[in-house]
Amino acid sequence: MDAIFNRRSVRVYLDKPVEEEKIDKMLRAAMQAPSAINGQPWEFLVVQDKETLKKLAKMGPYSKMVEKAPLAFILFGNKKKMRVEQFFPQDMGAASENLLLEATQLGLGGVWLGVYTVQQREEYIKDMFEMPEEVAPFGVIVVGYPGKGQENKFVDRYDSKRVHYEKY
Ligand SMILES: Cc1cc2nc3c(=O)[nH]c(=O)nc-3n(C[C@H](O)[C@H](O)[C@H](O)COP(=O)(O)O)c2cc1C
Repeated sequence: MDAIFNRRSVRVYLDKPVEEEKIDKMLRAAMQAPSAINGQPWEFLVVQDKETLKKLAKMGPYSKMVEKAPLAFILFGNKKKMRVEQFFPQDMGAASENLLLEATQLGLGGVWLGVYTVQQREEYIKDMFEMPEEVAPFGVIVVGYPGKGQENKFVDRYDSKRVHYEKY
């Protein structure tokens, strides 16, 4: 699949909004992910408001790109609604990657910002959006049209030393 091989973290964006249809497609792609016992623990908060994005950019030292992004998705779960909390990070990781791949396929670029289990970032998001205690923020995915010097392009990372056949 081309999107898998070409996806790169894109951290600079054009000053151009992302169309609603594309936002819808990325959300649909995320929700197509596999999850333990098909528990689908995910929820999404879509942020396009400039002031909110500016505040989100202050989550930590590695999230400054959010300030000039047109769009960010906050991925989270609610512990009270989860059927198997144990697999929550894996389920959310699969949804996150699906979202990024769909973004790539749509001509967009994005970057995944880790939140779970960095307590300070989890608290920052919970405070910012006044989320109740049982909410577990997982990550932020920032998306936009790739800006100057940024593009999705293939980088070969295949490493045969990491592959074991039959025995370790
Ligand atoms: C769990 C996770 C957390 C990440 N957190 C950040 C982050 O806080 N800021 C950032 O700029 N990139 C972040 N990234 C993106 C990685 O830096 C990036 O995926 C990696 O350098 C490989 O580059 P590529 O995405 O272009 O293949 C994160 C990626 C993952 C999977």
